[in-house]
Amino acid sequence: MSLVSVSIMATVVEPSAPVGVIEQLMTQDHARLEGLLRAARRSDGTIDGAAYAVFRGDLLRHIAMEEKVLLPFARDKRGAPLAVAAQLRADHGEIAKLLVRSPSAAIVAAIEESLGRHNPIEEGPGGLYATCDALAGAEAERIVERLRAQPVVPQAKYYDGPLHRRGS
Ligand SMILES: [Fe+2]
Ligand SMILES: [Fe+2]
Repeated sequence: MSLVSVSIMATVVEPSAPVGVIEQLMTQDHARLEGLLRAARRSDGTIDGAAYAVFRGDLLRHIAMEEKVLLPFARDKRGAPLAVAAQLRADHGEIAKLLVRSPSAAIVAAIEESLGRHNPIEEGPGGLYATCDALAGAEAERIVERLRAQPVVPQAKYYDGPLHRRGS
């Protein structure tokens, strides 16, 4: 087969390429987390603390799946961090700061806004998950096992004091 016909095939096949197992698992988790956060928001504007605590723990675990499994896997496979890694870690830091605070309508709105900007960087063609599926190839199921095995993150108490003592 000539190089020309291979490149034409790649052009034709790529848009309909099936979603990989890493992307399936992680995008389903995004949807599940969105549902948990919606469930924590009562119609009167107050927050269901028990439902929010489930969301908080599961989102922290989801972030750990990305920071402890996917980003290191991609870095090791490529020999260099993904271009998007620094942005994703910075976003995770911002989201984790919001999760430190006692839940309120304002905090929930800020988390929804952050996730609304963040999750599209990870989903879809060229996103973190599709990139990891492509890098993993036949190893993808093994990576999914590692993601599933990621332990529950112990939750700290809420803290509403200053986050930056130095310089504040
Ligand atoms: Fe993330
Ligand atoms: Fe994510």
